[in-house]
Amino acid sequence: MGIIAAEAKLSKSAPVVRKYRALIHHQQDKPVQPDISVKHLNKVYADGFRALKDINLDIERGEIFALLGPNGAGKTTLISIICGIANISSGEVKAAGYDIVKDYRKARESIGLVPQELHTDSFETVWGAVSFSRGLFGKPPAPEHIEKVLKDLSLWDKRNSRIMSLSGGMKRRLMIAKALSHEPQILFLDEPTAGVDVELRRDMWEMVRKLRENGVTIILTTHYIEEAEEMADRIGVIRQGEIILVEDKAQLMSKLGKKELRLHLQQPLETIPGQLALEPVELSKDGYELIYTFDSQQEQAGVARLLRTLGDLDIEYRDIQTRESSLEEIFVGLVNE
Ligand SMILES: Nc1ncnc2c1ncn2[C@@H]1O[C@H](COP(=O)(O)OP(=O)(O)O)[C@@H](O)[C@H]1O
Ligand SMILES: [Mg+2]
Repeated sequence: MGIIAAEAKLSKSAPVVRKYRALIHHQQDKPVQPDISVKHLNKVYADGFRALKDINLDIERGEIFALLGPNGAGKTTLISIICGIANISSGEVKAAGYDIVKDYRKARESIGLVPQELHTDSFETVWGAVSFSRGLFGKPPAPEHIEKVLKDLSLWDKRNSRIMSLSGGMKRRLMIAKALSHEPQILFLDEPTAGVDVELRRDMWEMVRKLRENGVTIILTTHYIEEAEEMADRIGVIRQGEIILVEDKAQLMSKLGKKELRLHLQQPLETIPGQLALEPVELSKDGYELIYTFDSQQEQAGVARLLRTLGDLDIEYRDIQTRESSLEEIFVGLVNE
């Protein structure tokens, strides 16, 4: 059984796929192709603006990748290029192994795109719109697939409704249904939850997880840190056209995360005692709080040492609080660097 066949068989469950990919990888001793591969990509718009600067990025099959960045960072530009909507200035992009310039049709067929801007004021029915989208890719009609997609997205009851009569949330789901109509391997969601209410956002996250369980590779852009924190396996941070970091979410949080320990003292201190001079300790203005900051990665040894030293100095405290930095703080720290 070849790699492709093995993967096709296993594509039902991403974790299983990953496990077996590791195995295949090991056996064949050469890396399995990523689903998206971007190499030295640059984009200069017609007006001379450099929107993307030497982007390098690999996205693996079956992962949820969040591209996180402030407005204007280049997220939509990057997606538009991968989807063949905008031209490459220089560099190379492959989707599902196909070069998006030389093998445009094959590459595009493997991709579903839910664009940032929704165009949804239509007299067409839900069923008609989704079927039409599939047709655009030259795929033969597959009513059973469309039925499954509509059911998965809770749109089945609305299949005969006109698009213009749908609620905002249903329109969003319809955009996803259209993007999935031709059974793509890769799904792009460009700011899927911008401006939607909390409940719909939760629904969307749930849907995205289900899609991933079906083996779809998902790339979503967002400027909601919470979304990346909640959803992503890996996170890429883009700022002013440059990818400044790509990291496993859990590793990112432990690597860059800080922990803070606050000690509320019985008696205020005027200065930090000399014995603590070498420790990452600050004193609050009123002298009642000692604030100790350390990396989440580090062992607790520093804390133990701190408390011991305080004991030796007879400095009494009545309360201890600890706090871990959120992805938000990490992100703000990064983009403001
Ligand atoms: N067609 C265009 N011509 C010139 N500049 C553009 C064009 N489209 C986008 N830009 C600029 O490129 C930058 C990145 O835009 P975009 O990719 O939409 O960012 P994001 O999706 O991260 O908000 C922005 O500064 C934007 O103004
Ligand atoms: Mg955008």
